[in-house]
Amino acid sequence: MRVNMRIKNLLDRFAFPVYLAPMEGVTDHSFRMVCKEKGADILISEFISSDALSREVDKSIRKMGFEERERPFGIQIFGHNEASLIAAAQMAEEAGPDFIDINWGCPVRKVVTKGAGAGILQDIPKMVALTSAVVQAVKLPVTVKTRLGWEQSNKPIVEVAERLQDVGIEGITIHGRTRAQMYGGEADWTLIGQVKENPRMNIPVIGNGDIDSADKAIAYQKRYGVDGIMIGRAAIGNPWIFQDIKDRLSGLPIKAPTYEERVRTALGHLQVAIEEKGERRAVLEMRAMYAGYFKGLYNFKSIRMQLMKADTMEECQRIMALYSPDKPSDFNA
Ligand SMILES: Cc1cc2nc3c(=O)[nH]c(=O)nc-3n(C[C@H](O)[C@H](O)[C@H](O)COP(=O)(O)O)c2cc1C
Repeated sequence: MRVNMRIKNLLDRFAFPVYLAPMEGVTDHSFRMVCKEKGADILISEFISSDALSREVDKSIRKMGFEERERPFGIQIFGHNEASLIAAAQMAEEAGPDFIDINWGCPVRKVVTKGAGAGILQDIPKMVALTSAVVQAVKLPVTVKTRLGWEQSNKPIVEVAERLQDVGIEGITIHGRTRAQMYGGEADWTLIGQVKENPRMNIPVIGNGDIDSADKAIAYQKRYGVDGIMIGRAAIGNPWIFQDIKDRLSGLPIKAPTYEERVRTALGHLQVAIEEKGERRAVLEMRAMYAGYFKGLYNFKSIRMQLMKADTMEECQRIMALYSPDKPSDFNA
């Protein structure tokens, strides 16, 4: 069968394609922009419920929004019902992304019990049929993000990847864990490597799971031969990881961001988030990012405690200005 190469062509634009992983509640427009600026090549929306999208729920429609600067950009949908998956994929197509990604990897109970996300790994024929229906319903390339399998004794990813390729997906991202592992233990990349080694596989294979440094990204890409790397949790509050990879590949030393750069990045992120969802919510949600943005700073704890209580951007700015990296203090405002 003829394999479409649109995702492959898209990846060929990058010497070492690095994706920012889709993360519900994290990778909204504001955070994606920060990561893009720091060198993430390919971005994907948070996962969007196909049921909600097909019912035209406002919040889900808004989640499809992106800026031109975010390209190449994928919209990720999840679901279990063929009609809603098709309707959602067609709505996503109209939003004009570069590709549509189907989430067959989410391990959360309320998703899997319906047979969506990683729940589908218990019914591979249905996974193949639903994926095929989505591929047939849109003109855009369709990719899949999934896990190794349902549990330790059931890791059919090598066969699954091939079957999904045969129904027309153009790329696959594999998180090296089973559903049963949730986010525990260590990601196992050996099966990801085996998918890539399968001589029948032609589509790009993206490796995902536990990449937390530039050195690890480069080592794993080499060791397992994947066509790209996807980084999730390690980018939360540390978008510099993308720049680190680029610096390493160019033979440049990795520089830790200065305090000024951390403040500029955090406030830039906050500013875009405020424009998107209002000051109150944006400031509240930023609290989850401070541990990352200001990681490793000597004696920063009291400043962080104050940031956790701030309600406005102005307050955040004022509190951040209290810290001096040269003269760290336990200043209490
Ligand atoms: C808070 C959070 C939200 C996530 N939301 C999604 C999601 O919406 N869609 C998805 O495919 N994966 C989601 N994931 C999984 C990540 O994309 C990624 O596969 C996983 O975190 C493993 O990669 P990492 O070790 O680099 O974090 C989420 C993970 C986290 C921690």
